[in-house]
Amino acid sequence: MSEQYIGVFDSGIGGLTVFKSIMETMPSENLLYFGDTAHVPYGTKSEKQIRKFVLNDVAFLHRFPLKAIVIACNTADSVAGPLLRETYPDEPIYGVIEPAAAEAVRSTSNKKIGIMATKATVSSGAYDRAILKRDPQAQLISVPCPLLVPLVENGRCEKDDPVVRLVLSEYLEPLIRYGVDTIVLGCTHYPLLKEAIQSLVPEIRLISSSDAAAKVLKEGLASAGGHGIRRYFVSDDKQQFEDNASRFIQDLQGDIEQVSLE
Ligand code: DGL
Repeated sequence: MSEQYIGVFDSGIGGLTVFKSIMETMPSENLLYFGDTAHVPYGTKSEKQIRKFVLNDVAFLHRFPLKAIVIACNTADSVAGPLLRETYPDEPIYGVIEPAAAEAVRSTSNKKIGIMATKATVSSGAYDRAILKRDPQAQLISVPCPLLVPLVENGRCEKDDPVVRLVLSEYLEPLIRYGVDTIVLGCTHYPLLKEAIQSLVPEIRLISSSDAAAKVLKEGLASAGGHGIRRYFVSDDKQQFEDNASRFIQDLQGDIEQVSLE
């Protein structure tokens, strides 16, 4: 059993926030990461494209013995999660939407929850369904934030960066006006902006879909343990990935390989 991997994938670097949470909570698991950097961002693409990318991502992960698959991307989970689970009904497939929705419902006191996510995630309505099924009284406001993924992919995450503050202020404004006490960071790239967001809305609770996902994975794994192996794969330039990744996982502890899925 111990040579099996937990296969984690995202459109790019954002899924590393999930990967990092898994590394911290389950250090001995063998972990494999695939970032589809050739196709990032997913969040501005059509549902058809996103489904195609996601099926390819999972086909790549299937080259390895897996004990679980983690969709470390809200866009992929919201648009293609149901299709994946239907396609591979016998595999343990973990996502980010359900864990983050559950955490948001636990967190809110005034039942007003904001969702920041990509355009595709917001249009899918996946968060609305996941939250309202847990609390039909919840009042939701969703804001598509298309500029945040490019900022993160380009390493612009600092809370003192005027561009970051300007962009975040615009996206946060409707959420503040609505009176939310909880915001779901409904994209795995956004935890990298958590400090910057929190500095603009210190009184609002921020839910990281990445931390929530790792918690649920830990509870759900049928067998625990491995050799703590880490492997990283990307579909475009590995140097750019490495430079960016090291900004938030200081020690990646594993090789990065560039692969072609074509
Ligand atoms: N990190 C991803 C998410 O959680 C997707 C970002 C993108 O590729 O647009 O939605």
